[in-house]
Amino acid sequence: MSAGVTPFALKDAPALIERLLPVQKLSAEVFKERKAGPGQTLVPLGAYWKGRKPLILNKACILGCLLPASDNPARDLEIFEKLMAMDDESFVARWPRRPKPKEILATLNIACIADYFVCNPPTSMPQSAPVDWSKPELEDVRVHWRDDISELERHRLEAQMLPLAPYRERVEAAKRPEEVMDTVHGHIWDAVNAHLGTSARSFPELVEQLGIMRYGHRPRVADTFCGSGQSPFEAARLGCDVYASDLNPVGSMLTWGAFRIIGGSADERVQLERRQQELVDKVLREIDKLGVETDGHGWRAKAYLYCVEVRCPQSGWMVPLIPSRVLSYGKQAIAELVPVASQKRYDIRVRSGVSDDDLKAASKGTVCSDGRGQDPYLFHSVNGVEYRTKISTLRGDFRNADGTTDNKLRLWEKTDFKPRPEDLFQERLYAVHWMKPKANGKKFDYEFRTVSDHDIRRELLVEEFIGRHLAEWQAKGWIPDMRIEPGDKTDEPIRTRGWTHWHHLFPARHLLLLGLLRRESRRGEELVLLSRILDYTSKLCRWTTSKAGSSKSGQGGRTGGASDNPANVFYNQALNTFYNYGCRGSFPLLQLLGAPLPEAESLGRASVVCQPAADMLASPDICLTDPPYGSAVNYEEILEFFIAWLRKNPPPEFADWVWDSRRSLAIKGDDENFRRGMVAAYKRMTECMPDNGIQVIMFTHQSGSIWADMANIVWAAGLQVTAAWYVATETDSALREGSYVKGTVLLVCRKRHGAHKTTHDDLAWEIQEEVDVQVRALTGLNQQAKGLYRDENVFEDADIQMAGYAASLRVLTRYAVIDGRDMAAEAIRPRVKGETTFVDSLIEFAVDTANRCLVPQGIPQGHWDRLGGAERFYLKLLDMEARGAKTLDNYQNFAKAFKVRDFRPLMASQRANEARLKSAVEFGRAEMSEGSELHQSVLRAVLYGMMELVKNVDGSEVLAHLTLNIPDYYSDMTRRELAVELADYLARRLEAMRPEEAGAARVLRELVKNQRLG
Ligand SMILES: C[S@@+](CC[C@H](N)C(=O)[O-])C[C@H]1O[C@@H](n2cnc3c(N)ncnc32)[C@H](O)[C@@H]1O
Repeated sequence: MSAGVTPFALKDAPALIERLLPVQKLSAEVFKERKAGPGQTLVPLGAYWKGRKPLILNKACILGCLLPASDNPARDLEIFEKLMAMDDESFVARWPRRPKPKEILATLNIACIADYFVCNPPTSMPQSAPVDWSKPELEDVRVHWRDDISELERHRLEAQMLPLAPYRERVEAAKRPEEVMDTVHGHIWDAVNAHLGTSARSFPELVEQLGIMRYGHRPRVADTFCGSGQSPFEAARLGCDVYASDLNPVGSMLTWGAFRIIGGSADERVQLERRQQELVDKVLREIDKLGVETDGHGWRAKAYLYCVEVRCPQSGWMVPLIPSRVLSYGKQAIAELVPVASQKRYDIRVRSGVSDDDLKAASKGTVCSDGRGQDPYLFHSVNGVEYRTKISTLRGDFRNADGTTDNKLRLWEKTDFKPRPEDLFQERLYAVHWMKPKANGKKFDYEFRTVSDHDIRRELLVEEFIGRHLAEWQAKGWIPDMRIEPGDKTDEPIRTRGWTHWHHLFPARHLLLLGLLRRESRRGEELVLLSRILDYTSKLCRWTTSKAGSSKSGQGGRTGGASDNPANVFYNQALNTFYNYGCRGSFPLLQLLGAPLPEAESLGRASVVCQPAADMLASPDICLTDPPYGSAVNYEEILEFFIAWLRKNPPPEFADWVWDSRRSLAIKGDDENFRRGMVAAYKRMTECMPDNGIQVIMFTHQSGSIWADMANIVWAAGLQVTAAWYVATETDSALREGSYVKGTVLLVCRKRHGAHKTTHDDLAWEIQEEVDVQVRALTGLNQQAKGLYRDENVFEDADIQMAGYAASLRVLTRYAVIDGRDMAAEAIRPRVKGETTFVDSLIEFAVDTANRCLVPQGIPQGHWDRLGGAERFYLKLLDMEARGAKTLDNYQNFAKAFKVRDFRPLMASQRANEARLKSAVEFGRAEMSEGSELHQSVLRAVLYGMMELVKNVDGSEVLAHLTLNIPDYYSDMTRRELAVELADYLARRLEAMRPEEAGAARVLRELVKNQRLG
């Protein structure tokens, strides 16, 4: 170990993350990881888990907590970026292909080729590069690197070959750092060690040494809301000791699985794969013995397609409910309803290779809806007479006295596993998708077939089997017997189908297969893998068919051949029932069970438990948590889908866990209970960490009230904020889906020491000063980084704004008593709806102060202070547009910051990555009237004047209108001055974007300036 590694040498050093974080680059890396979809390291273990925090983000947080902030921030940043593989040399390793020596010599200016390369034969070679390889005398020359050129030197030269693209584009083309883990960091250690006084050659060594310098031991990281285990896994991979816990056993199980399976040693993996294969073979043998999934001619079932069938109350016919009769676009296969009038029912015949017209006609089935949010209805016609009946009418929906809705569906009992003959909704097999190995044994042939009598017989066999074994298998825990508790998400299966127990969600075939698998799964690993395929079972799997290459490239979707498959249950965060659905056959499901998983050995020591965060039993140095704040995911409800299968007779590894989602202890929502739960959790973490411990709390940036909420929680937990960062964590497609763009706020906290007091008045100055210092520090770093970073800003305005908020929170939460009030008590005081609390008003004040510091250059502070929110918004965002910003989240964040009620009327485009304000001409005469947030504002009047000038209205007329549009124009001279300032500002900002309007702004400025008064 290096002489520089002295225990506790960094005990009180501020952490890097408290001073800086390259959030723009980090956002690009996060996008990259998200876009990798199932290629992400832990995702294949549990793709059903929603709301994973990217590994790269966790890595940044952990390193940011351990690294010290020195008095050379620019160098700190450089070192941090090397560790994150964000530097140019790392991109050489991340690039899909390294350049060949000849390519380098063809491109770069190198004074003396022999300084780097050996050429053979050397005779005809020029001394310097670039080299023109097309010369005939160079045809046979071979070039290779000199042996004594270090890897770092090679990287440096090769880095010059990288395209000079913005960081985001580079990241897009490059691999993720974790994909080239073994090679990407080789060149960094000398620089890292020289800066930090360490002697590391790997992350675990560096992390251990930094831990000793800060805490006297290898750092201990805790995540008490660990979910799928992303943070603990990354912490352990970096070499930290880890404590992970979650209230939900499925979360704890996935975290455990991340360590034991993905992070397991090569030996463990081999053994696991062998055991899995044995399990797969055994279960498939049993299914085959029953003969229920093969047709006796070499074909196996790939999927069974079922639908709900119902008697139409008007025609008296039994009608299968199938919204689309298309089975496959690739095979042009459809299901045809053939009326059997004598029995008032339909036969269903499968036809493949139909015409395009037939396919198109089949896309309209027997369940229709007149649009989103409209009640679906049953639709069929007999002898030319059309019958329509709303599904809600079929179900017999009615309103209770208390306003809740109910219906007349029979509620299924525990002993049921299929509809009873008298039930309204029957279930019917309507097609089978078969598969058979091709002659070469590698691929398969597939075909859709009409349901035959043999198929029906096989259905009955399965049902008889389950009927005989259900009670016994339930008692043994091989098939669920758990009730579905009502809830936001769990109400749907109860309300729409009458299902009351979790096993009702599964067709008999899946009860059989899963029951056998559950019987054989006695180890933790096996339950993790079983859960993986549970996501692909049940009646909640929508039937999907796509054409070849139908999804957009680059969106992570399939771009290859056509596909016909039942979707997974958790493609969204709900428990939606379907009128028709697909059930994968045992063979494809078992193939999925044995599918290979990524390998990423994790080195740190980890303990994983299942308990409420407030009961934590550990002493971590760093807590990295992602609590369910503003989370749209009802983990405690939807995960019961898995718990139902796993809860009985858990393997020894999970035996101490409570196999229940403990809904009442789950933190959720945003009410009093939420705050109480959060405070208890964070108080406990604060108690457990040492005085120099540090916490990073991640949460979704959702509404303006988060700042007050988080300040309250931090205060009451005995913490104080030391920094906050905003990282855009959503993918492009997510950005496109909703108009609300989400990002993640990282709130960095320390223990609050002492009981400092202050007053509201003193706070004003302190906040002002702190925000000023913070904003200056970050803009300063931007300046320093220019040149180093290809002219890109390290921080954009939105980051600086966030840092401004953080600075104000930092000041506020430093104090235990403000104006004589105990802030911890104030923070947990129950709220009255609509009331503005003392804390709210403090935050509002702090945020205002922070916003005031974000004056765009060219507008004097005095004028800025007097502008309305919408004016500030427009001017600020125009400034950002002029510098190339286009993402909608900027507009959303600044609208919030400047308290603009509705920024949409000011926008010409609200596309996620092409957002843009309206120009003066695009505004036309809009936004002048009383309802507008720009009503009677000087900015609006100036834009109006510009519009008129562009349209060649006479100057004197324009001026006359301006004086009318600005109230008090003649009595308050500052209004006129402001008009001149704004016209000047707009002229400069619009110069490159809209030269014509810029010209109009200049003319207006001169008109007002030279106007004769009096
Ligand atoms: C937003 S998720 C964490 C996701 C995680 N960071 C990941 O990357 O997968 C929040 C987690 O908090 C858990 N949770 C909710 N209430 C809890 C409580 N009282 N104690 C511990 N965990 C709780 C939920 O089960 C859920 O797994």
